[in-house]
Amino acid sequence: MARGLPEKKPLPGVKSIILVASGKGGVGKTTTAVNLACAKYTKLRQNLKILPSAYTIRFTHNKKDVNEHRAKVMARGLPEKKPLPGVKSIILVASGKGGVGKTTTAVNLACAMKVIEPDKEIGLLDADVFGPSVPLMMNISGEPMLNDEHLIEPLLNYGVKCMSMGLLVSGENAVVWRGLMVMQALERLTRHVAWGPLDCLVVDTPPGTGDTHLSLAQNLPLDGAIVVTTPQSAALQVTRRGVNMFEKLKVPIIGMVENMSHAICSKCGTKNFVFGNETKNTAKDMGLEIIESFEVDHNMSECINSGKPAIYALPDSIHAEKYRQLANKVFKYIDNKENQAAKAKEQ
Ligand SMILES: Nc1ncnc2c1ncn2[C@@H]1O[C@H](COP(=O)(O)OP(=O)(O)OP(=O)(O)O)[C@@H](O)[C@H]1O
Ligand SMILES: [Mg+2]
Repeated sequence: MARGLPEKKPLPGVKSIILVASGKGGVGKTTTAVNLACAKYTKLRQNLKILPSAYTIRFTHNKKDVNEHRAKVMARGLPEKKPLPGVKSIILVASGKGGVGKTTTAVNLACAMKVIEPDKEIGLLDADVFGPSVPLMMNISGEPMLNDEHLIEPLLNYGVKCMSMGLLVSGENAVVWRGLMVMQALERLTRHVAWGPLDCLVVDTPPGTGDTHLSLAQNLPLDGAIVVTTPQSAALQVTRRGVNMFEKLKVPIIGMVENMSHAICSKCGTKNFVFGNETKNTAKDMGLEIIESFEVDHNMSECINSGKPAIYALPDSIHAEKYRQLANKVFKYIDNKENQAAKAKEQ
């Protein structure tokens, strides 16, 4: 990073620039930025005593250029997808949107798969190199060891083999990487780790539709993706982008997981659709099945944030039962795919 940072040139005519940022998704960056910008605008308007009837703020980009660029990147000599040695199947947990519960889903799914099929080997890869939260949620820490073949040994907890950038770089250092560096980090987390033997590797992904997703889809034989969303329009809109990206990259979508569908009032038991109730319509529109739906549950959040996934900490809860059902569906999906591949080979 110190190697000749480019000179910072001011933006012509711009007096000050304020970033609204967070390492975490879904914490309200855009909401804050929009309100902050509007608040400044309102103040300015008041100061100038100008009150125009309405403002429209429109963010535009040249869609044609963006699409052409993406198509070029995707078409540029796709590397051959090499299997991960000893890994039978790979499932992504993704969403275009941040903070919707991707990691919560990935962690509980991996643990639930181990719970319902204890003889199967399950792995959990944290592909969120910018904001890894698997170490916290799986309660793993410490520097991983290298084996005799110079491969990194995954850390084991709850019977699940885990690897995360959070174990390889110190916690507080925000990772400021782009493009190639992300791809190199992913290469390390996938091909330099002693994953095998594994029946299934669950991959937690960062928010967005960026370098990580492209790199994973281009380099690994992905069996399917689970798309996590919350029921508000803003999340569903971004989720749609994620689904479109997977379709373009030819990654089959197993289904949608709706998270934080509603909250139940602890006093009167009323269902409150705090984030709206749009998931069904969007799923139908995209031809996707909602394979599981989880309500907001304070206990579940508390468990996962203290490194005890609900599937273990609250095994009798509705959430734990739903994660077991989700795990069952994923196993069935993998089995079907394997059977189909075997039949295709015979023919
Ligand atoms: N059903 C739920 N009920 C209550 N809290 C939840 C639920 N699902 C997730 N959470 C909480 O929401 C927060 C965000 O979840 P999580 O980190 O899994 O989201 P994410 O999509 O992985 O975020 P990021 O985009 O930053 O990676 C966490 O604190 C988690 O405990
Ligand atoms: Mg996450």
